[in-house]
Amino acid sequence: MESTRSKLIKLLSLQDDNYISGQEISDKLKISRSAIWKHMKELEKDGYEIEAKRNKGYRILGSPNKVSENTIQWGLETNWLGKKVIHKASTPSTQIVAHQLAQEGAGHGTVVIADEQTAGKGRLSRDWYSAKNKGIWMSIILRPNILPYLAPQLTLLTATVLADVFQKKLQLAPKIKWPNDIILNDKKVSGILTEMQAEQDKINYVIIGFGINVNHEQKELPNTIINRATSLKIETGQAWEIIELIQRILATFEEKYEEYMSKGFPIVKQRWEQNGYRIGEKTKIKSFQSVDEAVIMGIADDGALLAKYQDGEVKKIYSAEIDW
Ligand code: BTN
Repeated sequence: MESTRSKLIKLLSLQDDNYISGQEISDKLKISRSAIWKHMKELEKDGYEIEAKRNKGYRILGSPNKVSENTIQWGLETNWLGKKVIHKASTPSTQIVAHQLAQEGAGHGTVVIADEQTAGKGRLSRDWYSAKNKGIWMSIILRPNILPYLAPQLTLLTATVLADVFQKKLQLAPKIKWPNDIILNDKKVSGILTEMQAEQDKINYVIIGFGINVNHEQKELPNTIINRATSLKIETGQAWEIIELIQRILATFEEKYEEYMSKGFPIVKQRWEQNGYRIGEKTKIKSFQSVDEAVIMGIADDGALLAKYQDGEVKKIYSAEIDW
């Protein structure tokens, strides 16, 4: 059930710059005036700036820039995504938390976010470096009504969502490196990890995890990734409000996910290919057995990479690494 506290934050945030009287809050939330006062004091402790004026009431002047369940939800323009947020100051991996929650029945659209991951997971069992308060380390639980073999499309959808936000909000020119990397100036700024629990023809749940390097300085990136990784701050020369970015990503994700569910994959494919990294270029494709030169053509309807090999054959690739 929604807590009184989060109902109070919602009510205050709906007023924009206007005041809401203690009486109105008391009527709407069915709590006493002194209980309201106590809640306001608690909110102030969390970093909310609340103004209380005699004969006018209360209004929020500022929200804390500390990520929490409340600060994400305050001003979040979604209908179902992020209506339940689990925030951890530190956790081995938000993927692990999300799997546990999903197995316990957490609903579609539940979001798990951490300030820091101590054992962040990347694709192909790699580590994902997730420094405290420097980036967005998030997992989303989805229960999509699609066949399991189509789940990789959700990774591609997520990549187009992140690319869209980086383009429109940050005026950057991101590229998507198949299947799951967002690239800025030939360096990786974000990665996506999709994991799923499914039966033969039914998905129980999907966890979409993504990491975004937001406010790292160049010198804060570990040596092991410094040549291939970047952050939004490095690319734009300015720090970014993490909460605002999260809210924009969630709102865009919800919109594009609904569009995908109602209209299907073609629109995602088109957006992906518009931003595809090295499309039309000859590149090295490393698969388990070999390294081959091929021209990247785009993606197939099932999310596979399409590449034209030297003998002219266009192949579908499901698991491989594309050279930088
Ligand atoms: C990759 O590029 O290999 C995928 C990286 C995915 C990292 C994110 S951060 C949030 C979520 N929790 C994890 O442990 N991994 C994903």
